Amino acid sequence: MQNILVSLIIICGLTLSSLANVPHIVFILADDLGWYDVGFHGSGDIKTPNIDALAYSGLILNRYYVAPICTPSRSALMTAKYPIHTGMQHGVIMGAEPWGLSLEEKILPEYLQELGYKNHIVGKWHLGHFMKKYTPTFRGFMSHVGFWTGHQDYYDHTAVERPYWGMDMRRDLDPAWDLHGQYSTDIFSNEAVKIIEKHNASQPLFLYLAHAAVHSANPYNPLPAPDVNVMKFENIKNYKRRRFAAMLSKLDESVGKIVDTLKQQSMLENTVIIFSTDNGGPAAGFNENSASNFPLKGVKNTLWEGGVRGTGLLWTPKLLNPGRVYNGVMDITDWLPTLLRLVGGNNSFYSNEIDGINMWDSFNDETLSSSSPRRVVLHNIDDIQGVAAITVDNWKIVQGTTYNGNWDGWYGSSSWSLSYDVNEVLESPTGLAVAALGISITSQSIEKLRDELWIDCGIRNNTLAQCQPLKKPCLFNILQDPCEYNNLAELYPDVMNNMKNELNKWNATAITPRKVKADVRANPELWDHTWNNFGDYLSPI
Ligand SMILES: *[C@@H]1O[C@H](CO)[C@@H](O)[C@H](O)[C@H]1NC(C)=O
Ligand SMILES: *[C@@H]1O[C@H](CO)[C@@H](O)[C@H](O)[C@H]1NC(C)=O
Ligand SMILES: *[C@@H]1O[C@H](CO)[C@@H](O)[C@H](O)[C@H]1NC(C)=O
Ligand SMILES: *[C@@H]1O[C@H](CO)[C@@H](O)[C@H](O)[C@H]1NC(C)=O
Repeated sequence: MQNILVSLIIICGLTLSSLANVPHIVFILADDLGWYDVGFHGSGDIKTPNIDALAYSGLILNRYYVAPICTPSRSALMTAKYPIHTGMQHGVIMGAEPWGLSLEEKILPEYLQELGYKNHIVGKWHLGHFMKKYTPTFRGFMSHVGFWTGHQDYYDHTAVERPYWGMDMRRDLDPAWDLHGQYSTDIFSNEAVKIIEKHNASQPLFLYLAHAAVHSANPYNPLPAPDVNVMKFENIKNYKRRRFAAMLSKLDESVGKIVDTLKQQSMLENTVIIFSTDNGGPAAGFNENSASNFPLKGVKNTLWEGGVRGTGLLWTPKLLNPGRVYNGVMDITDWLPTLLRLVGGNNSFYSNEIDGINMWDSFNDETLSSSSPRRVVLHNIDDIQGVAAITVDNWKIVQGTTYNGNWDGWYGSSSWSLSYDVNEVLESPTGLAVAALGISITSQSIEKLRDELWIDCGIRNNTLAQCQPLKKPCLFNILQDPCEYNNLAELYPDVMNNMKNELNKWNATAITPRKVKADVRANPELWDHTWNNFGDYLSPI
């Protein structure tokens, strides 16, 4: 087996000599986490000591862009391609819709498998399930405890997707009825711990932990959290925000458990951890949720910064200068080439059709002088919704908008806490594990990083023409105006033309959206009340 792997590695053009030194990868994907929902971005009402400890001892990605919603974002992460290049640019996969990420796409675990990785997914998939060949254990993962659709109740594990309603929790292909009543975040956390404990560390592990948290659940109980956790946040007056804080604290606790388990197994020193949101936060009641993107504009499923500038960090002892803010631009498509580079591959390993760019050499430049190799971020082009946006260097153009402009404001909690509890971070399981590796976090370094991460919106120039994206595209200098206050379209017509040309250039490479209408035959009532791979039993779809 070892020989086969070694020859595979040579064939693939890699220079790995021993699998034992290849780092483990733990990718923790939060769902719907907003910009201002983590302590390290300044949030005062919500506490995320374990996530913060990773940030302060890792690399904080300050201009990290994700897609505006779940399915497109996850497809970009898995393929390193923009959603317009895989047909995933329009909407999410609803439980009854017979489509998924094209089977012709080679995805992250499949690349890692060729490098000898053991791949496991825990939690949400949302890249197709109407036939089993679209599900994770047929696409490079060895096991899956989790769900296929976009959200679930955290106790009964059902997903209401009107007019249908079905249970969605599985072990590989089997419905996991026995997990009924257990809190989703705990289930996924315990499963991840089990995988790490059982893992033979002589081989590299890829653990993709895609939480349900903090996505809202079903209308009858949108923000499920244990009462004891909700009670801890009596300081938060807004009841929905208080419940959201409780859900998030469970997610943070999970991060602590995972890091602690990696430490117990002596794997932490050879692990790369990524913590990322999939898209911007649903704030102010969007999706019946209560995230905050303060001070950024917009929410999830808009192309304003609040929808696409994501919370993200990379942690690994391999960083030459840990505890730092990376201000270069990164896109979620960049993880695949970055991780492959980090674990020893080179870019002859993946096809040159990808949109992702290897960031690792810039991340880990000893001189700290390297700028991002990425100049352009295509935020999305969705002609069905009539919305498109792209950033090139300092400029961002937004054409059209979603929800008829009803979510084009600034929302969410903005409480900045002067009493940020540094000790809570240092004494969290993650803080302790990191300290045991000799990576130092101090109250001074925390204060410095939090100050550096404070977003200054600058001034609002009221003499400028208002941004009315449904009438005319808007232009922003996104570096000087991160909050998208000042529409410079009329002031800089030449820049505007160049940006339009750039958008057209990308648009010419787009393929048709894969999205299709729901199929009545997916109704969970026909499948023992579960969301099912119904397409395997019917012909033809
Ligand atoms: C990448 O791998 C190929 C195949 O082994 C090798 O020829 C090439 O020199 C490598 N490139 C870099 C930049 O290491
Ligand atoms: C772990 O894997 C190595 C190499 O494949 C093997 O020699 C060893 O016996 C394994 N250990 C356990 C506990 O299975
Ligand atoms: C505000 O916008 C006007 C154009 O409408 C421009 O002439 C002026 O320089 C701007 N002021 C600032 C402070 O940027
Ligand atoms: C992209 O191209 C299509 C087909 O030519 C066109 O209908 C659509 O309006 C274009 N979208 C944008 C955002 O330019």
